[in-house]
Amino acid sequence: MALRSALVNVMAQAAKRAARGLVHDFGEVEQLQVSKKGPADFVSNADLKAERVLRQELGKARPDWGFLLEESGAIAGKDAEHRWVVDPLDGTLNFLHGIPHFAITIAAERREEPVAGIVYDPIRDELFWAEKGQGAYLNERRLRVSGRKRLEDAVVATCLPRPGEERQRRGLAELAVVMPEVAEVRRFGSAALDLAYTAAGRYDAYWEWSLKRWDISAGVLLMREAGGLVSEIDGGHKVLETGNVLAANDVLHEPMRRLLARARKAGVKT
Ligand code: 2AM
Ligand code: CA
Repeated sequence: MALRSALVNVMAQAAKRAARGLVHDFGEVEQLQVSKKGPADFVSNADLKAERVLRQELGKARPDWGFLLEESGAIAGKDAEHRWVVDPLDGTLNFLHGIPHFAITIAAERREEPVAGIVYDPIRDELFWAEKGQGAYLNERRLRVSGRKRLEDAVVATCLPRPGEERQRRGLAELAVVMPEVAEVRRFGSAALDLAYTAAGRYDAYWEWSLKRWDISAGVLLMREAGGLVSEIDGGHKVLETGNVLAANDVLHEPMRRLLARARKAGVKT
């Protein structure tokens, strides 16, 4: 039986409260798809509303902590060591299109290191959570990264850079190198869930460039507590700073790093 600490309970309760509004608004979005105006303004409102609920709930539980919020940025607290890192709606584009794959993610950081984290998918009611030194869980079940050892059996996830970006070419070059070597490449559009799924052994590896700290802080802890490896894509240690994420089990991490390095060597600007 998984024993959640008070800290994880605070995060889970805040996420579930904010999720009620998001799920309600998601229902509206499905209606708005067919309207002329489209759901864009409505969605940015849903996002801000969820962030307000999270800020209120987390602030009530730890009044001195600071925040790093996707929508409102950094807010200093009296306690200079601790802060909440919050993305109220990860997978915004999915939400906007009525695709039921998005999450709320929260990390508790101490001196800029995640010590507890959650990724909550309100549609499937899946709460991924982890606490430093205590393991990673999906609802009540302990998580472990996948045991697959061969690239040819691996289902790997990524997300390509958005159109118009110079980096798009790099993404295509990476796909050209990775696709022939693995069983399948998936793109689901929520970095927080991608990391949580890799921690749960659903994906065997995941990489993505230029993410923000609020997308990945909780997911990085989930990966490590599930026995996986997370580094920068080139193997560096500053993944939370650069947001260039490569996550996999300890057998597949190095072959994936080498494949992605090969894609860059093939003359693609990074
Ligand atoms: P979002 O849904 O909160 O915007 C999809 O590839 C992932 O990248 C999602 O987790 C998405 O988060 C994130 N993302 C989208 N635009 C981004 C940007 N400009 N910088 C960093 N991350 C981004
Ligand atoms: Ca995000």
